[in-house]
Amino acid sequence: MKVSASRLAACGFSLLLLVTGVECGGGKYHWYTMFMFGDSFVDTGNLPKTGGRSPLSRQWHWPYGTFNGGRSGNPIGRFSNYLVQSDVIGSVRSGIKHYCDPSGMTFAVGGAGVYDVPDRLPTLAQQICNFKRLIKDGTISKWHLADSVALVAISGNDYAHATNSSDMIGFIRNVTTEIAANVKRLQKLGVKKVLVNDLHPVGCTPWLSRTTNYTVCDARGNMAATFHNTYLRKSLANTRNVHILDLNTAFTKILSGKGSKLQHKLTPCCESFDPEGYCGQRGNKSERLYTVCTNPDQYFYWDSVHPTQAGWEAVMKQLQKPMLHFLTHN
Ligand SMILES: *[C@@H]1O[C@H](CO)[C@@H](O)[C@H](O)[C@H]1NC(C)=O
Ligand SMILES: *[C@@H]1O[C@H](CO)[C@@H](O)[C@H](O)[C@H]1NC(C)=O
Ligand SMILES: *[C@@H]1O[C@H](CO)[C@@H](O)[C@H](O)[C@H]1NC(C)=O
Ligand SMILES: *[C@@H]1O[C@H](CO)[C@@H](O)[C@H](O)[C@H]1NC(C)=O
Repeated sequence: MKVSASRLAACGFSLLLLVTGVECGGGKYHWYTMFMFGDSFVDTGNLPKTGGRSPLSRQWHWPYGTFNGGRSGNPIGRFSNYLVQSDVIGSVRSGIKHYCDPSGMTFAVGGAGVYDVPDRLPTLAQQICNFKRLIKDGTISKWHLADSVALVAISGNDYAHATNSSDMIGFIRNVTTEIAANVKRLQKLGVKKVLVNDLHPVGCTPWLSRTTNYTVCDARGNMAATFHNTYLRKSLANTRNVHILDLNTAFTKILSGKGSKLQHKLTPCCESFDPEGYCGQRGNKSERLYTVCTNPDQYFYWDSVHPTQAGWEAVMKQLQKPMLHFLTHN
């Protein structure tokens, strides 16, 4: 199945949704249809390609999508040097009896959270509303849902915008409660199994480790992630057919030098001159306001908050075994 891009105006929000579902083939294989929800970790080009450059359109401009830092590649709307988590999760196909197409359908939008953020991006709940519309109008059939897996990636945008941290714990509880409520919504709509990302060690992102020249992770950021993950597990403890993808453990292991040979762990490949700027930013005379490395496959982080493709491959390799166990048992 190849469905062309369609414009959706659901839940009071209009967005260009790239629908690239592909049927899996082969009699002895088990087929899953994957649906992705959340933010830039699993957005494969849903944010519109606007004219100008901005933090929310940078993924459509060089050096995004260039793979090896060379000029050869074209940006593909992903927040990485090439592929992102949702692409890499599908590459677990080889050597096992189960095959899952990586693209499926993604409703995720870079920058989104469970709550409204600036720029009116669709929240997780609104993305699920878009999903529901496609079920209602028959674009997504019962057949698609029969062996469906959803991935929910909420990676901290809610916190990045929560400047008022007088009750941070209360806010974290609210965010994780919301995630769990949306997981149940997906299951009610007929999704059979749900993968939920836990929160990666946000204190280690170049965004927060820049102040120490990328030598130390920010302890507060990492503590917030730990709280988030504790509450997330509590919120989902009694929900069946849910598996938490433990990004936090995988990232931490890799960043501490175990489980990967990546040379550059905290330093990003692409760095803006201004800490408030962004990778890909240009000046008034179109001059580059950032530097970019020539060997992103040696870096864990691509820009101030996103892993490189090599980073994602290292992460998903760590998570593959428990994930497959979850998908293949009952
Ligand atoms: C933060 O919260 C306090 C009280 O809870 C409020 O007075 C203040 O206006 C808030 N600041 C922002 C920026 O929202
Ligand atoms: C958490 O959610 C409740 C219910 O919506 C709300 O009353 C409360 O203010 C929220 N707390 C924080 C810290 O966001
Ligand atoms: C970071 O590195 C720059 C250039 O090497 C140096 O000027 C600066 O003092 C360093 N900052 C810290 C916090 O180590
Ligand atoms: C670009 O031009 C604006 C307005 O003239 C100015 O405020 C800004 O500092 C300039 N930016 C750079 C990077 O030169």
